[in-house]
Amino acid sequence: MLDSHGRNIHKLRISVTESCQLKCSYCMPEHPNFPKNEEYLSIDEIIYLVAKLADLGGIDQVRLTGGEPLLRKGVGKLISILKKIGIPFVGLTTNALLLEQRVDQLHSYGVDAINVSLDTLNPERFSRMCKQTGLQRVLGGIKAARDLDIPVKTNTVLIRGENDDEIIPIIKYANEIGVMPRFLELMSIGSGNDQHHYRHVSYLEVLKKVERELGTVTIIPVPCDSTAMLYQVGELRFGIIASENKPFCQDCSRLRLSAKGLLFGCLMNSDGFDTREYIRSLEFDEENFVRFLAQVISTKPLERIIGSENRMNILGG
Ligand code: 5AD
Ligand code: SF4
Repeated sequence: MLDSHGRNIHKLRISVTESCQLKCSYCMPEHPNFPKNEEYLSIDEIIYLVAKLADLGGIDQVRLTGGEPLLRKGVGKLISILKKIGIPFVGLTTNALLLEQRVDQLHSYGVDAINVSLDTLNPERFSRMCKQTGLQRVLGGIKAARDLDIPVKTNTVLIRGENDDEIIPIIKYANEIGVMPRFLELMSIGSGNDQHHYRHVSYLEVLKKVERELGTVTIIPVPCDSTAMLYQVGELRFGIIASENKPFCQDCSRLRLSAKGLLFGCLMNSDGFDTREYIRSLEFDEENFVRFLAQVISTKPLERIIGSENRMNILGG
């Protein structure tokens, strides 16, 4: 669906649960209060909604996220049915703690690509940053996905004084096993908000550091609505998602659905639109739904909204 600024909105990011085993400081609040299962859209409701969004709104790329999507019962079925109804791309963003044991199933259901949060390669640091042990399981999950030739990207949120010394090791590790490493600027959202000013690392610092240690960096061209900028240095590749210092709002092609069924035009918008009444109404009215969608899309800003109270585990990374 085109918006009034000519942006083609064709991607949907769905948070399927707010829960997560980890507690990354920039994402989870200290004392999270998770909704009850019945407050979430059911798997069947998500399928119905995506089918309508694909049919009436032109959505052709779906990414399942959370919280931790593999904690949601039925997520495998969700992937398999989304593929069966013809969604060309279904991706998953996961912390990978359960990936090794679930990856065969995800692969057989047709998952197209997996993004894994990987803030550090150091087990003690992992436990400190995520308030939970498990780095070996994460690395095992990444390897298992690669063994099945599933395209994998890693996401590293850079935090000054915490993991900003791991840029080069992560680039080397990821390239060695055939994974695209991506570094994310810490976004001023949710729990990241208060830490943002003093812990933020700009993409320019990343580029400088890589140039200093590995040599000349060149740009790899990407589609205009890509969130990541991609770079090459010698044989190595890496990406940067500079949401804070080089926002991509002008080309953004995404909608976001919270686990409770609120549809957001933008991660930073404070209000979502309730989809539940549409999918639960017995006489689903197509014209009305298209108008509803247009209204959601009209809330997509052209420039970055600064600061948001939204929480990443609710709206999905
Ligand atoms: N800033 C940047 N990235 C974030 N993520 C979660 N919270 C933030 C934040 N404040 C990212 C995680 C993960 C994905 C789910 O979202 O790193 O890869
Ligand atoms: Fe969990 Fe991902 Fe949030 Fe970390 S960033 S707490 S892994 S949802």
